[in-house]
Amino acid sequence: MFAAANPRAYDPCMAIDPEQLAIVYYPHDVLRQKAQPIPAVTDEIKAVAHKMIELMHQAPGVGLAAPQVGLPWRMFVANPTGEPGDDRVYINPELSGAAGGNAARDEGCLSLPGITVEVTRPSAITISATNQDGEPFEDSADDLLARIWQHEYDHLDGVLIIDKMSPMDRMANKRAIKELEEAK
Ligand code: NI
Repeated sequence: MFAAANPRAYDPCMAIDPEQLAIVYYPHDVLRQKAQPIPAVTDEIKAVAHKMIELMHQAPGVGLAAPQVGLPWRMFVANPTGEPGDDRVYINPELSGAAGGNAARDEGCLSLPGITVEVTRPSAITISATNQDGEPFEDSADDLLARIWQHEYDHLDGVLIIDKMSPMDRMANKRAIKELEEAK
């Protein structure tokens, strides 16, 4: 169904079989790349988004960015509640209007199992993106959803929570990071 029969000029990644996608772990190179904009919401993009939502729930997690399944594309999925009706797809997202002051909270990452970092971020923010139907939309959130957006957006620029560690977090996570690096 997603075989290489149709060459797609825009696709930097050859043919993708969404069913084969799996979460990749630090220090996979793709997690450090700057992801590229998605030119059009094709059936393939929709299928990838669908699979990413499935992987996010399986993990389980509240967000998953395309680089975390090996694709350097500007897309992520999120669901702050775990309820199927709350699944959201954000294609080519942009963040703006940080508000509400800063808040610090522990974050994990599906690509960094066993690692927790206290990350300070604006508590409220606005996102504009394209959804899985190809429609542009804008939304604002605070608390957990605002944090998820910012965490996942960081992934699109190759930024990970381990880049934001305090000296204390660095010590606490030293062993887990080393184990991941040695497992590569
Ligand atoms: Ni993450």
